[in-house]
Amino acid sequence: MSHPSTYKPGTGIEKWLDKRLPIIRMGYDSFVDFPTPKNLNYWWTFGGILAVCLVIQIITGIILAMHYTPHTSMAFDSVEHIMRDVNYGWLIRYVHSNGASMFFLAVYIHMFRGLYYGSYKEPREMPWILGVVIFLLMMATAFFGYVLVWGQMSFWGATVITNLFGAIPLIGDDIRTLLWGGFSVDNPTLNRFFSLHYLLPFAIFGVVGLHIWAFHIPGNNNPSGVEIKDVKKDTVPFHPYYTVKDGFAIVVFLILFAAFVFFNPNALGHADNYIEANPLVTPPSIVPEWYLLPFYAMLRAITFDIFFIPAKLGGVITMFSSILVLFVLPWLDTSKVRSMRYRPIARMWFILFVIACIALGYLGGKPAEGNYVLFAQIATAYYFAFFLIILPLLGLLETPKPLPKSIAESVLKNKADASAGAQPAPAE
Ligand code: HEM
Repeated sequence: MSHPSTYKPGTGIEKWLDKRLPIIRMGYDSFVDFPTPKNLNYWWTFGGILAVCLVIQIITGIILAMHYTPHTSMAFDSVEHIMRDVNYGWLIRYVHSNGASMFFLAVYIHMFRGLYYGSYKEPREMPWILGVVIFLLMMATAFFGYVLVWGQMSFWGATVITNLFGAIPLIGDDIRTLLWGGFSVDNPTLNRFFSLHYLLPFAIFGVVGLHIWAFHIPGNNNPSGVEIKDVKKDTVPFHPYYTVKDGFAIVVFLILFAAFVFFNPNALGHADNYIEANPLVTPPSIVPEWYLLPFYAMLRAITFDIFFIPAKLGGVITMFSSILVLFVLPWLDTSKVRSMRYRPIARMWFILFVIACIALGYLGGKPAEGNYVLFAQIATAYYFAFFLIILPLLGLLETPKPLPKSIAESVLKNKADASAGAQPAPAE
């Protein structure tokens, strides 16, 4: 929320800097004295958690790159070398690989939070759109990173995904050759994936900067979805209230993270990736990491030609459209009310949507046959129907519950309800 600056440079150096590059002022106004809705719940701590995840991935990744060799004849061994010979190499690798999973866990929660509370709605389209860009970059980065290990799943995953581009009419073959740097997944592919895997996190870092800038313009949304009316009554300064709340959530999140790293570091990985890549042996099933499974399920759900579009291309289009539809979501949802707290019918459909996404994740890991395909088709159809039919129509048809007049009122009302509930029942 744009607000008058309250920063007062104290020392001479601060005054000197403030006249030339008011960077401390910017930090102070954005992260210390920023008027933040007083009713943010713990779902709002995931932005901060994500920032921590990104930093952890970049630091551990840079250290891994010091010991990793991007060559098909040495990549797999260099990873084993990191695990066995490099001091604390096992820890750095496990933090990085489990870090990717934790990053996606947090980003999915962050996105569902945005969906539930209507954080994508006017005037917050820009943080949402930049978020979708970040999500796309995250998926590309994770995919490239997984290939670097040069295990069986790395190699065959790369083969399946790069071959998808071959389904694009006219230019598909050329794109695939460009991705491969040759005529199959091989050393040039590994080299370019390594280069891109190192580059993209910094691109993400840049877009995150824009994302944070963008949501500071309108200010945070909040669980009531009602805008700030009175800065004094509706908000508290970001520091210390939310620095402490975010800090606490980050610690809890890191405990879960550490539980994976120290007690079951391979729980989320696939055993086949501990077998070195072999172009002559196809693994019994080729599956991506868990966080990409819903999209993999949609890709494989299209088993039939759609008019003149062959099934394979249809799958590719469906998979990419499942993300592209998120870009236009702010214009698809016609409801004037942001938060689903006050939209009981939308909330029901939203719960079904979450179930469909989880089902797609489960089905993506199963063989593409029989009822698994049928259920994936139903869930895919629901995924698109939610955005393209349900949200546009519900906004016009649903009567929302009455909204609180202000953030302060929504907080005080909750308080009143709580104390009313705590009162002993009046004597008969
Ligand atoms: C590296 C990944 C990301 C980082 C570090 C990040 C960071 C943040 C932070 C710090 C906030 C403010 C605190 C909060 O609302 O939790 C925020 C808000 C927001 N983010 Fe993200 N984000 C990321 C990815 C995404 C993605 C993938 C989306 C959606 C596709 C998204 C959509 C939003 C929206 C709409 C807001 C405004 C929320 C509100 O005011 O209610 N973000 N983000």
